[in-house]
Amino acid sequence: MTQVTVVGHPLVQHKLTKMRDKATSTKTFRALMREVATLICYEVTRDLPMEKVEIETPVAPTTAYEIAGKKLVFAPILRAGLGMCEGMLDLVPSARVAHIGLYRDHETLEAIEYYFKAPEDITDRLVIVVDPMLATGHSAIAAIARLKHHGVTNLRFVCLLAARQGVDALRAAHPDVPIWTAAIDETLNDHGYIVPGLGDAGDRTFGTR
Ligand code: URA
Repeated sequence: MTQVTVVGHPLVQHKLTKMRDKATSTKTFRALMREVATLICYEVTRDLPMEKVEIETPVAPTTAYEIAGKKLVFAPILRAGLGMCEGMLDLVPSARVAHIGLYRDHETLEAIEYYFKAPEDITDRLVIVVDPMLATGHSAIAAIARLKHHGVTNLRFVCLLAARQGVDALRAAHPDVPIWTAAIDETLNDHGYIVPGLGDAGDRTFGTR
């Protein structure tokens, strides 16, 4: 069954609390999104395979470790995923980025795709799907289904905040995809917002409301 990791690190929890606070400015929210994403990325990449390489330090030849295999792909779901992706790229600057454009139909809350652009050899790589809010799970499920349809087999999902319902839906749809989040809130309201949540992550990141 799907592995779900709640990143309980005090720095992550502290920053998430500031992000939940409606008094937090756009500028601070955006900075916190980036910082918290970097910290969560550290956890998501904890078990990446490594290989031994021969190098020479200024003092002596030695054997040391490097990350093995092809570069990672971060796949932010537009647009809120972009803010989180920045923080992940701070930690893994050589990662490739696949953009997945989805919007929520406000009536049905279903995810509708309007954009998809991925590296050509994405099927050979670990792909980490990034979306700060796992609410109904519709967007994450659709994005992962799209990537699987493309041939991707090695997938992880990262968010900042999840609703219990979203976690259950994503686990049911894609039991092979492990999930990382900073917290799981109990409910969703009638508009599909996580309660207590933090509001609209895209609007708060980009200052559009
Ligand atoms: N998307 C958001 O930005 N916030 C929510 O609470 C749910 C979905």
